[in-house]
Amino acid sequence: MSARQKISVTVNGALHEGAAEPRMLLVDYIRDVIGLKGTRYGCDTSNCGACTVVMDGRSAKSCTFLAVQADGREITTIEGVAAEGRLHPLQAAFQEAHALQCGFCTSGMVMSAYALLAQNPDPSRDDIRQGIIGNLCRCTGYLPVIEAVESAARGLKAGGGTP
Ligand code: FES
Ligand code: FES
Repeated sequence: MSARQKISVTVNGALHEGAAEPRMLLVDYIRDVIGLKGTRYGCDTSNCGACTVVMDGRSAKSCTFLAVQADGREITTIEGVAAEGRLHPLQAAFQEAHALQCGFCTSGMVMSAYALLAQNPDPSRDDIRQGIIGNLCRCTGYLPVIEAVESAARGLKAGGGTP
């Protein structure tokens, strides 16, 4: 068994200091060590995007990183997007636009959209398609997801908010 390495990661604004085996995936660290189960584990082959988090401002599939690679970095998970117990505008827009059915892809979709809107608050439909290109959904047909992201972008713009 390989020696565990100390890592410190800021997750949703809180510093977590711990240790991980060198081969432990970041998605496992987030779910099983930190205990945040909203980040899903879908394919483990970097295809589905269910494990998407935001790392240092960019969307990242957490099954494609080792936990030790997150040392010193800042991560936002789905648990970190809702402020003061209220749904984030993206979450509310997903709910309103029926942009989820089984919900398995939803946390990853929202995190990809969250990273997109942070970088591009006024995305075109093509920008949104590109933003969620790494996230697979077997239920919705994607159109409601795109409409939800558009609606959230409009709402955030009107309210002067930032993701
Ligand atoms: S679990 Fe990471 S991309 Fe599918
Ligand atoms: S809502 Fe079921 S996979 Fe997307």
